[in-house]
Order: sequence, then structure tokens, then C-alpha cells
Amino acid sequence: MNSSNPVDLVLGVESSCDETGVALYSGSRGLLAHRLHSQVELHAEFGGVVPELASRDHIRRLAPLIRAVLREAGVAGGEVQGVAYTAGPGLVGALLTGAGLARSLAWAWQVPAVGVHHMEGHLLAPMLEPEAPAFPFVALLVSGGHTLLVEVEGVGRYRLLGESLDDAVGEAFDKTAKLLGLGYPGGPAVAALAEKGDPERFRFPRPMVDRPGLDFSFSGLKTFTLTTLKRESRGLKGEALERLEADVARAFEEAVVETLTIKCRRAVRHCGISTLVLAGGVAANRRLRRRMDAMMEEEGGRTFYPRLEFCTDNGAMIAYAGWQRLRAGERSGPLFDARPRWSLAELRPPGEAFSADDSSCPVS
Ligand code: KG4
Ligand code: ZN
Repeated sequence: MNSSNPVDLVLGVESSCDETGVALYSGSRGLLAHRLHSQVELHAEFGGVVPELASRDHIRRLAPLIRAVLREAGVAGGEVQGVAYTAGPGLVGALLTGAGLARSLAWAWQVPAVGVHHMEGHLLAPMLEPEAPAFPFVALLVSGGHTLLVEVEGVGRYRLLGESLDDAVGEAFDKTAKLLGLGYPGGPAVAALAEKGDPERFRFPRPMVDRPGLDFSFSGLKTFTLTTLKRESRGLKGEALERLEADVARAFEEAVVETLTIKCRRAVRHCGISTLVLAGGVAANRRLRRRMDAMMEEEGGRTFYPRLEFCTDNGAMIAYAGWQRLRAGERSGPLFDARPRWSLAELRPPGEAFSADDSSCPVS
């Protein structure tokens, strides 16, 4: 393929953690089909993702999901013009299952393959919506493994503005859920419980908002939640205990939402940009969305999100980010590229990154 015959139809495969996602994206026709298999039930009894179980389940699910997506879109395998897969960051075994199958299919179909950065997938996911944000924008990426504030000038043009120095926001939600005896993943469960809570009863700290800069820290908030719960729950039972748990969930959520909102306001002012993108699993949080919308309205700008199902991990965002790179001629190098740790700041614009001839393609 070259620029006179750019890749249009791309199969995307996501397998970096506990969701198996597959999608077909066409540059000329949009998103044709997408399927997701969540492993939530598989890991629920362990209270978190068990990497070996995740890899085995991806192996079981990937091929049937790919067949289903091709069938739904009425596309034959041979019509696919490129294959994109999540190359990192994530669980190495899980990444290898997707990379292995995606690269094998690309080889069988004699089409190019490209390894996509999972967080670039999240970051570009709002572009799949009818009203897509225009560049430049500031993006807040909030997932189970990352909390990043990024200035985005275009695809692959990312400047890291701030990040969490310890726990990611999603991780803080998941750990708080565990303290409250709620299931995994914890974010939606904490949010649902917080709905019943009294916002006036507790005020939890807003970490690092008094300091300049755009970094975050959520581990202290988690400890504050634990000590509050322990102190206040002594001797409580039944309805009183349930009320306390809801009030704690609400105080925790309020603290997280306000902290993120303060930092995003600071970031858009700092960059002089009036478009904010929120993506990653925690972007599904309704209170966070409402607060960000109000803040950006005050700033004379606007917030963009992926639809709810594309906030959490999915194949559509990988197909889309992969299409952006494949159509510019980018291809994975000859070496296998699964990168469990991979900074978003290392990415380059499509086509300027590694190519098939480049022996420096990433392997770790
Ligand atoms: O992006 P994602 O699906 O996976 C990673 O790349 O990590 O994000 C999953 C995270 C989990 O920590 C989950 O608890 C959180 O997103 N999450 C939420 C909500 N829905 C998912 N957190 C707060 N409120 C929600 N509604
Ligand atoms: Zn994710």
C-alpha cells in the first residue's frame, strides 16, 4: 500500500486487560461493526484481574469475535486492508494473545499490521462520534491504569501536561469499592452507591490542588477513605452502616471529581485551548461529566466524550487509531511488539514512527 492507495478498511483488536474487543472501521464508511467480551465475571471472585486467566480467555474469545464482526459487517477476511492491535501498555500475556492473532491474520491476508498504543486509542475514541472534537484539545485520560493530562495538537502529537504520581483514578475507585465491600470493577459500583450518599456529611481532601502544576496523587485519598470508614463505622450496623458507606462513597467521588475538574480548568487555561476531551473508563462517570461540562461552559469552551460504551476498553478505538496510522503508511516492524510499559509521550505522528524497515521497532 502507498499513499495513492491508502488503507481504508481496518480490523482492530483490543486485549490489553480484561476486555476482548474487536471492530471493523472504514475511513470512508465509518464504524461497520464492533463486539466486546467482558471478563468481569471471570475475575469477580478474585477481586481483580488475574493475568493468566485473562490471557487464556482472550485466546478463547478472539477468533469467534472476529468472525462475528466480519459476518455482521458483511465483509470477507480478504477484503480487510489492515489489522491494528493493542501493542501496549497492558498485561504482557494478554497483549501477546491479541498481537499474535492480529499479526497472523495480517500475514495470512497479506495486509499490513500496526501496533497501537492503548491510551492513544482512548484519546482518539471521541473521534468516532458524529460531533468529533477538532484539534487542538486538552485530553484527560482516566482509566484503571492511567491518569494523564495531555495537550493534543494532532494524531501522534502529544505533550504530557500531568499524570498521577501514584494510583490511577480508576484504581482509586476500585480500591475504594473493595473497602466498601463492593464488587470489581469498582467505579460503577461506587458511583451508584454515591448517588444515595449525603454530600454534606464529609469533606475529603482534594489532593495536590493547592500546589501549582498538573500532576495528581490519589493514594492519600484512598487512605483517608479507609481511616474515615474505620473510625465512623465502630459499633454501627444495618441501616446506619449502609448510610455511612453511601456517605463515604459520595465524599470520595466528590473529592475525585472536584480534583480532576480543578486540574482540567488549570490545563485549558495554561494551554489557551477551549476544547476538552475526557476518555478512559472513569470518563463514564456521570457526576464527572456534569461537572466538566459546567466548568468548560464557564471557560467558554466545550467537553467531548466517547459514547459510554467506548469510554471503557473496546476494539473500535483500536481500529480507529490503527486506521489513522495505517493510512499514513505506518506498519509494525518485523519484530514482535508487545510493550507492557509504554509512555504516550514516545509516540510520533502517523508515518513518522517506526516502519517495516526500521530495526528499532519496539520490543520489550
Ligand atoms: O479504560 P478502562 O476500561 O480500562 C483500563 O484501561 O484501565 O477503565 C477501567 C476503569 C476501572 O478502574 C473502573 O472502575 C473505572 O474505569 N470506571 C469508572 C466508571 N466506569 C468504569 N469509574 C468511575 N465511575 C464510573 N462510572
Ligand atoms: Zn483502557
